[in-house]
Amino acid sequence: MKSLGSIPELFRTLPTRGIVAEVGVWLGDNAAVLLRCMQPTRLFLVDHWKNVQDPTNKALLGDDSKRIAAAYSKVVNRFFADRRVVIMRMGSLQAAKSLRGGLLDVCYLDASHLYRNVLEDLRAWSYCVRPGGFLCGHDWDYYPDVNRAVTEFLKERPDCQHEYVAGRKGHAKAYALRIRGTRFRG
Ligand SMILES: C[S@@+](CC[C@H](N)C(=O)[O-])C[C@H]1O[C@@H](n2cnc3c(N)ncnc32)[C@H](O)[C@@H]1O
Repeated sequence: MKSLGSIPELFRTLPTRGIVAEVGVWLGDNAAVLLRCMQPTRLFLVDHWKNVQDPTNKALLGDDSKRIAAAYSKVVNRFFADRRVVIMRMGSLQAAKSLRGGLLDVCYLDASHLYRNVLEDLRAWSYCVRPGGFLCGHDWDYYPDVNRAVTEFLKERPDCQHEYVAGRKGHAKAYALRIRGTRFRG
């Protein structure tokens, strides 16, 4: 596993001009970095923008539906002129179902950070990424649940390899798993 100094550095290391999805968008700040660093030809932005009982998102979402509606509007306004961007307002697993089939070069997970949800996201989105592509996510070290889910997923999937950890010292880090050429359908 290779360490990179920042998340933008990771994005610049991953395949450029590809098809990318970010799962968990909130205000679109990371999506803007993805667009700048990876220059994707298509970027799917997946978020349900709704209240959930999830302690790992509570600080961000609160219980305020007006704030959530405003976050969604902000993303729509921010990217409406960018024809590469497709906003998918729906749950992560539903979106993964509709994008299944190895379309993506890179998928970046930053939705729920609960163990069960992260593991489900990794499983579901791994089938949306092409062989040789990357399944990535945020908060690898920040939430123990994320780390545990990634470790469990790697045990299940010998065709996936942990290639990068990226982030500045003292900041939450991202991980990148390469889906190797041979597909594992176990
Ligand atoms: C940490 S924020 C994303 C921040 C964003 N990636 C960034 O760095 O700018 C998490 C987002 O995930 C969304 N989310 C949480 N669980 C989800 C799920 N199951 N399906 C879709 N979106 C989800 C929340 O609505 C919230 O906007």
